[in-house]
Amino acid sequence: MSDRIQGLHHITLCTGTAQGDVDFFVKTLGLRLMKRTLLYDGVEPIYHLYFGDEMGTPGNLTTCFPWRRTGRKARAGTGQIGLISYTVPVGSHEFWTERFQRRGVPIRKRYERFGQQVLQFEHPECGILFEMVEDDSDTRKPWVDPKYGVPESAAIRGFHSWTVSLRDLDDMHFFMNEGWNYNRVGTDGAFTRYQVDEGGPAKTVDLLLEPDRPPGNWSYGEGMVHHGAFGVPNMDVQDRVKAEIEGLGFTDVSDRKDRTYFKSVYVRTPAGALFEAAHSIGFTVDEPKETLGTEFIISPQFKDQRDELLRRLNDPIDI
Ligand SMILES: [Fe+2]
Repeated sequence: MSDRIQGLHHITLCTGTAQGDVDFFVKTLGLRLMKRTLLYDGVEPIYHLYFGDEMGTPGNLTTCFPWRRTGRKARAGTGQIGLISYTVPVGSHEFWTERFQRRGVPIRKRYERFGQQVLQFEHPECGILFEMVEDDSDTRKPWVDPKYGVPESAAIRGFHSWTVSLRDLDDMHFFMNEGWNYNRVGTDGAFTRYQVDEGGPAKTVDLLLEPDRPPGNWSYGEGMVHHGAFGVPNMDVQDRVKAEIEGLGFTDVSDRKDRTYFKSVYVRTPAGALFEAAHSIGFTVDEPKETLGTEFIISPQFKDQRDELLRRLNDPIDI
């Protein structure tokens, strides 16, 4: 395994409402709501909800800021991660197509990419695009909760890949290759594929060349992918990655941020998409494994404001 950037870790989205996210990620896609807490940047509280497998394993972790209550909408476009792709077993697209039709999830298309069958669909509230890629090489253990009706034979295994939409390939190729230890392995139409190590699920990033598409926005707003985080094995490597990409000229790199469950460093890539190098701390630092995601977790300095914050959020979760 790479001793530097190791693959996909988590992705963070600005969505519509907390209930809309639970309906989509838990009740439709069958993921586990395994942490509910707050975004502490800014002055208004915003939920931060985490969806994944049992433990929020890196490579199968989608986190959301339900942003509708601010009134600010995002503009999707180039310079962002535009497609989030999960792996599912070969032959399970029929199950998902029928489920999406029944549950009001808009299906965009079915197509083939790099020889694999892809089902593309929308988050019904905020329009962010997702995909199911049929791939039997993914042997990760899925989260299965019988309450929601997704059988293990069709369940999401984790991320397959993320796709960055961009207007020009050259600078991003340099960044991926020299800064992020990802190798270019091929093209399929407008897609160029990059992988770390041997590639495959959670090791793959595609760049989608869309030279005539206007840029999306970088500020928070409903309906955008805010950033994609990649795993690093420890904080020494994180320091080294930061120093090395600064040495390449990418000086728009943050200091290390304490995100409770990760230690994070962010970099604005030449494509425009925000990437993060994340070191995992774990999700059992503030609640036990068995009850992950059932309680609203609030950091100690805000504990006495808990009820007031929940009242201001005004977005109760029915799960
Ligand atoms: Fe992150």
